[in-house]
Amino acid sequence: MKIIKSFKVLKKEINFNDNIGFVPTMGSLHNGHLSLIDIAKKKSKKIIVSIFVNPSQFNDKKDFNNYPRNLKKDILILKRLKIDFLFLPNQKEVYKKNISKKLIITKNDKILCAKYRKGHFEGVLAVVKRLLVNIPSKYMFLGEKDFQQIYLIKKYLKKNFSTKIISCKTVRNKNQLPLSSRNSLLNNSSLKKSEKISKLLLQFKKKIISNFKNINLLNDYKNKISYLCDKIEYLEIRNKNNLSTKITRKNFKLLIAYKIDKIRLIDNI
Ligand code: PAF
Repeated sequence: MKIIKSFKVLKKEINFNDNIGFVPTMGSLHNGHLSLIDIAKKKSKKIIVSIFVNPSQFNDKKDFNNYPRNLKKDILILKRLKIDFLFLPNQKEVYKKNISKKLIITKNDKILCAKYRKGHFEGVLAVVKRLLVNIPSKYMFLGEKDFQQIYLIKKYLKKNFSTKIISCKTVRNKNQLPLSSRNSLLNNSSLKKSEKISKLLLQFKKKIISNFKNINLLNDYKNKISYLCDKIEYLEIRNKNNLSTKITRKNFKLLIAYKIDKIRLIDNI
């Protein structure tokens, strides 16, 4: 595995006419990332994984500072997986002068996490744009756990790049909690409560599928979940294709963001 630290070296080392699969991450790799890499390996000839904890997508400096970082362990994992390239850009290069830091998202898209984490997706779009300009891979692999992230990346960036975005299924632990680097910050009791929250969401989803009128149970579920966490930011039922509130039994998704022990978690089912 070659470790590359600058866009310049990246351009020299990688032939982007090859079938290259790109997995962007913020590190602290878990089985969710490994499943992205697994899917990437099946579709691509060579794999590049990037690790960059992107400051501009954190609206809270404390959250940025506390974000788990495990570079040594990540490198060992990626070597074991025989990844071709690991890209570790530095902040200066990613945010060089003359590169606009933020893309503006429209008022209609300021829903869910975009409403509660001001500036978050502008930061995500800025870094993904910068990465894609320099990593014109055939595919980019993203996890569906960050459902709104994929939706906005497709909406705002897809038309400017030839890279195909591949959405990959969320990986959950045996108690249904979606894997996330932030889970490592949970203590045992918060972990159990978060698992219960994901199980409640699954139960709610099944109820809606069996009878669409059960969408009216939304407030009951909010109540149940509020006992398990510090604060629910949102629990909403939205159209999975365009995130509008026009839903049917076939096209809906439950999306949640909540805080537990000061840690912010999201899920969608
Ligand atoms: O999903 C993530 O890990 C990040 O938001 C991403 C896409 C790597 C951009 O920093």
